[in-house]
Amino acid sequence: MNEPTSVSVLTGAGISTDSGIPDFRGPQGVWTKNPQAEANASIDRYLADPDVRRATWQARLESPAWRAEPNVAHRALVDLEHAGLLRALITQNIDELHQRAGSSPEKVIELHGTMRRAECLSCDLITPMEEVLARVAAGEADPPCPRCGGIQKSNTISFGQQLKPEVIQAALDAARSCELFLAVGTSLTVHPAAGLCGEALDAGARFVIVNGEPTPYDPFADQVINEPIGQALPALVKELIDAAR
Ligand SMILES: NC(=O)c1ccc[n+]([C@@H]2O[C@H](COP(=O)([O-])OP(=O)(O)OC[C@H]3O[C@@H](n4cnc5c(N)ncnc54)[C@H](O)[C@@H]3O)[C@@H](O)[C@H]2O)c1
Ligand SMILES: [Zn+2]
Repeated sequence: MNEPTSVSVLTGAGISTDSGIPDFRGPQGVWTKNPQAEANASIDRYLADPDVRRATWQARLESPAWRAEPNVAHRALVDLEHAGLLRALITQNIDELHQRAGSSPEKVIELHGTMRRAECLSCDLITPMEEVLARVAAGEADPPCPRCGGIQKSNTISFGQQLKPEVIQAALDAARSCELFLAVGTSLTVHPAAGLCGEALDAGARFVIVNGEPTPYDPFADQVINEPIGQALPALVKELIDAAR
């Protein structure tokens, strides 16, 4: 098989754990430790229960993600782009660490949105998250929309919310038009994100998984690398770049 000259990458929370942001389902995951947090992560609960909203804003305020810096794995994907090999970087993460590491914003497809913005669920007003969190810090436990008074939420996809059609389309296009599809740091249990693996396979791509734990897609992969991402991904990217030279 020819070495891939176009790589689409799907990343999940596991690429950011070395930056100090816990994942959800890994051994130290937020939901592994507190299953109730998963139940509270649905849009219905958020809309129905002011206590859930207050707890969510408070958790946002205290999130380690605000202090997080990109790590070697994020930077390896910047190298992949600079080598001209990156078709697209599809991420389930909401932390923007790919862009902060230097990946071009036009290459990054944020399937689940970003925690760095807030949106009004009534009038769709988008505001910087820091403005909303400043109000939370100042004592507004559940700050309403400054324009219409509606309920605000981070500009991220909760369970029960649809992905943006143009975003899922861009991700499908990237999965279907690459020579290598690389899944990194994702349990591949959240759909439609995980389904992108099947799309890439159906289109004939080589499929490689880098993750510390098994995933449901392991049997379909050409290669499964069950190693720490901080070691495995830079090594794999170097191999790809060397092979393309
Ligand atoms: N950083 C973030 O933005 C962040 C953090 C937590 C959750 N989320 C959201 O939660 C959802 C969770 O789904 P997911 O599949 O992305 O995450 P997940 O928690 O379901 O799975 C993460 C996987 O990464 C593995 N992993 C963690 N650290 C690793 C390391 N250093 N080396 C090797 N493997 C490692 C874990 O074993 C686990 O299988 C996503 O939809 C995402 O939007 C985002
Ligand atoms: Zn509004």
